[in-house]
Amino acid sequence: MIRGISILLLFVYSVVWSDAAERYDTKAFRTITKLCSSCHGTPFYMAKQIDEDDWEFYFNTKGKLEKLHSTKPKALANLKKALFKNRKSRLLKFFIDNSKFSGAVNGCDANFCGTHH
Ligand code: HEC
Repeated sequence: MIRGISILLLFVYSVVWSDAAERYDTKAFRTITKLCSSCHGTPFYMAKQIDEDDWEFYFNTKGKLEKLHSTKPKALANLKKALFKNRKSRLLKFFIDNSKFSGAVNGCDANFCGTHH
């Protein structure tokens, strides 16, 4: 009986713990780090620069991102990658979830530790 309860507790703990550890889309985070951070800073910093309406506008207006980066060949190359195309809507969601007025504040974890650029 005691054993059953402790296994149950362990299970509850691990669910709560993994939930706390994944407060954001880490796959989107890593993709942004790879494709955008060299110019825009950390994904959280980048997300905070504009509000959710602007993110939607930039992502959902056809050709807008390409136009913004027309003088940046490296950015254009990244925007053309399958990695970007396949995850575009996930990136948009990440940016919106962490945008200017989202109130999202992220502490330290394995991917990120509060640096701002
Ligand atoms: C080679 C550097 C570089 C890379 C890589 C890059 N950008 Fe940019 N990006 C810029 C510059 C410079 C501007 C400012 C353009 C302007 O204001 O005319 C900009 C502007 C933007 C803007 C307009 C809003 C703002 O903050 O000024 C968005 C949105 C944006 N970039 C998204 C992205 C995304 C998403 C990626 C990754 C897929 C990315 N960028 C990768 C250099 C880059």
